[in-house]
Amino acid sequence: MRQPLVAGNWKMNGSLNSVRELLKGIKAGIGDVGPAEVAVCPPFVFIPEAQAQLADTPVAWGGQNLSAEAGGAFTGEIAASMLLDFGCRYVIVGHSERRTLYGEDDALVARKFAAARAAGLRPILCVGETLEERQRGTTEDVVGRQLDAVLELAGAAALADAVVAYEPVWAIGTGMTATPQQAQDVHAFIRSRVAGHDPAVADGLRILYGGSMKPGNAVELLAQADIDGGLIGGASLKAEDFLAICKAAA
Ligand code: PGA
Repeated sequence: MRQPLVAGNWKMNGSLNSVRELLKGIKAGIGDVGPAEVAVCPPFVFIPEAQAQLADTPVAWGGQNLSAEAGGAFTGEIAASMLLDFGCRYVIVGHSERRTLYGEDDALVARKFAAARAAGLRPILCVGETLEERQRGTTEDVVGRQLDAVLELAGAAALADAVVAYEPVWAIGTGMTATPQQAQDVHAFIRSRVAGHDPAVADGLRILYGGSMKPGNAVELLAQADIDGGLIGGASLKAEDFLAICKAAA
């Protein structure tokens, strides 16, 4: 059985005050959530605050990005070892906003994935197609290519303990959600692609859905056989909504 995982991607939102409130709210309600694993990914500068508040709770925390390099003259970058220093368990890799707004290509994403693994962080590898790619019927080509880049560089064994998040770009922050069947189809494709390399790793791999998941649609999405949790953007900024999704996953 795969333990469900619900991870909040806070993106570039919040202030020290609002983050304190949000963490307080999550802490207050986490006891009722049940067996799902829960994690939050705050902006880098708020990670120490998350660590301080969550250290004695079952909630994990992580980064939203990392450098492919281990250290050195890379102004503005954050290394995997630095995230580990602040107790991070997870790091999001290859989010579509990084891919489209910051030009991260499959090769760079694969290097970041490998850097996270090498340091002992669990990457949450994001894959997903744009609306145009879906309409052209190339969803599996795109998602397959994004996965293959990681499989080729890091090997299938590196996916053990890692997480994949299927995030159709057209569903992120738009209020448009993939139907449970659309999501399930791509999740099953991802699992079969990994199974082609290593069936045991594929079987244990947690594949999250991301893209306008909310309390109102979480139950249906999470009921699908290959949907093992969610990567939550907008709805993770309200403790009540985030906790409701965590409950739905449990
Ligand atoms: P959303 O974002 O839930 O606001 O659509 C998800 C994500 O980008 O990870």
